[in-house]
Amino acid sequence: MADSCRDEFRGQHILSASQFTRGGIERLFALARRMKRIANGEIECTVLQKQMLGSFFWQESTRTRLSSERAFRMLGGEVCTFTDMRFSSVVKGEDIPDTYQVLSHFCEIMVVRHPETGAVAEGAKFSRKPVISAGDGKGEHPTQGLLDVFTFQEALHGVDGITVTAVGDLRDSRTVHSLGLLLGLYDGVTLTCVAPPELQLPNEFVRKYRENSKGRLTIRTVESLEDGIADADAIYMIRPQQEHKDEDQQALVVEMYRQLCLTRDKIKRCCRKQHVIVTHPLPRNREISRDVDSLSGALYLTDQIDNGILVRMALFLLVLGKEEKFV
Ligand code: NCD
Repeated sequence: MADSCRDEFRGQHILSASQFTRGGIERLFALARRMKRIANGEIECTVLQKQMLGSFFWQESTRTRLSSERAFRMLGGEVCTFTDMRFSSVVKGEDIPDTYQVLSHFCEIMVVRHPETGAVAEGAKFSRKPVISAGDGKGEHPTQGLLDVFTFQEALHGVDGITVTAVGDLRDSRTVHSLGLLLGLYDGVTLTCVAPPELQLPNEFVRKYRENSKGRLTIRTVESLEDGIADADAIYMIRPQQEHKDEDQQALVVEMYRQLCLTRDKIKRCCRKQHVIVTHPLPRNREISRDVDSLSGALYLTDQIDNGILVRMALFLLVLGKEEKFV
């Protein structure tokens, strides 16, 4: 069991949430919990000394980049950051195969974000070092999915049987795309998708969820936020993904979002579960009202961010084959 789980990570590119097994995720989460004492400064760690993380973000990022870089440094590693394509040789006509082969020489592992769907996986084919996707266009964001499920696990003391209500622009949200794939690894999870038809989860992902979960995941489609959150254990809010819309669609999406704003009052009135948690990959626009922030179940500005560092620390150790020291 331990060996097959290790193979799932060791030396692998991390490109899609569909590549994980439940056993692998449990191993990752167990290791993430052990990272707490390092992350809070109780123990010093040098296990990644002389290892370099290539942090290549060719699209905006705050949390994913800083979280990945902090995670790597906490384990004693070094980081080289490259965030502006305009200063890379791509501008001089360097192609993807050459770019990734060259980047492989400067690091032991790389975290890459790219605005085009599929571009990270394409580049990984030419990389000599493991590539961890930090989000590709409107494709996937596997490490965000992992930290989201870890957040559910820790806050709700288990993921089997929970109801997760995802609200907003599910069509173009790569974080939801990865999240649903992971939830399908658990037993009896219901994913309630709240969005107008124009912003619902693409059929391609509904199909992938069904395949990946072998039918275990129940997917419900709902238009009203009030109905959608009624049975939720966890609410997962998404901002409008305006970068994937043309001008006309953008105005329409703003209009649609008027119905989707989560407020403290709606939570109090509509949620039947006492301890509902509220999560968001961030950045937030206006889809969560500020009066939700102080609820004890609002985790998007607190635990969810800290969990991202723990999960990425654990993932680096597993992919680089350095986890033994902590087991
Ligand atoms: C998300 C992203 O970039 O996909 N943010 C993140 O990584 N935490 C979510 C978003 O931009 O809506």
